[in-house]
Amino acid sequence: MVVLPVLGLVLSLAAAQFNQEVVVQRNFNMARISGNWYSVSMASDNVTRIEENGDLRIFMRSIHLLKNGSLKFDFLFMVQGECVAVAMVCEKTANNGEFTVAYEGENKVFLLETDYRMYATFYMENIKNGTKTHVLALYGYISALDRSYLKRFVKICKKYGLDSQNIISLINKDKCYDGPLRN
Ligand SMILES: *[C@@H]1O[C@H](CO)[C@@H](O)[C@H](O)[C@H]1NC(C)=O
Ligand SMILES: *[C@@H]1O[C@H](CO)[C@@H](O)[C@H](O)[C@H]1NC(C)=O
Ligand SMILES: *[C@@H]1O[C@H](CO)[C@@H](O)[C@H](O)[C@H]1NC(C)=O
Repeated sequence: MVVLPVLGLVLSLAAAQFNQEVVVQRNFNMARISGNWYSVSMASDNVTRIEENGDLRIFMRSIHLLKNGSLKFDFLFMVQGECVAVAMVCEKTANNGEFTVAYEGENKVFLLETDYRMYATFYMENIKNGTKTHVLALYGYISALDRSYLKRFVKICKKYGLDSQNIISLINKDKCYDGPLRN
């Protein structure tokens, strides 16, 4: 029987709670970020850009560290009611955990914190038409992250001047995670 141990793993992950002691906030080992991630929650000072039809509403699928140190994000993006797969390569910078990419403008992407296991929080500064927009994203190893991770995300958002009205959930809100996929 293979089913029972797998079920046990899923249950223990679902029961996992945010643990301050295992949080990494600097000197990241980016290779350990590689893997499958779900977008659980996003926040922005311009919510229009992360709400339905927003150009920065991203449904993460996986992140991979490339040999040259760049970070590849594979995600889904809703275009006219269809989920389209997008691969975006963020170029590394001289700073650990900091990347740049041209996507809907110019972006600086920062890994803020992670436990390499259950969650990773990213911060992005987007400049489009000369307007700067701040975006935070909580990615989870499973989509059903424990509430304690969401509470942590709310706290981080507050540090960036974003409160509950700037935060949206991406779980069970869109077809991208269970609808048909067009490549
Ligand atoms: C927010 O984003 C929308 C959509 O891109 C844009 O039309 C609007 O001007 C932006 N608002 C601000 C305050 O930048
Ligand atoms: C790193 O490799 C990726 C994939 O081959 C490529 O798209 C990217 O431009 C490379 N970055 C640099 C700085 O060479
Ligand atoms: C960028 O500028 C165009 C034209 O002025 C405007 O329609 C659009 O909403 C702007 N986008 C953002 C993100 O501010």
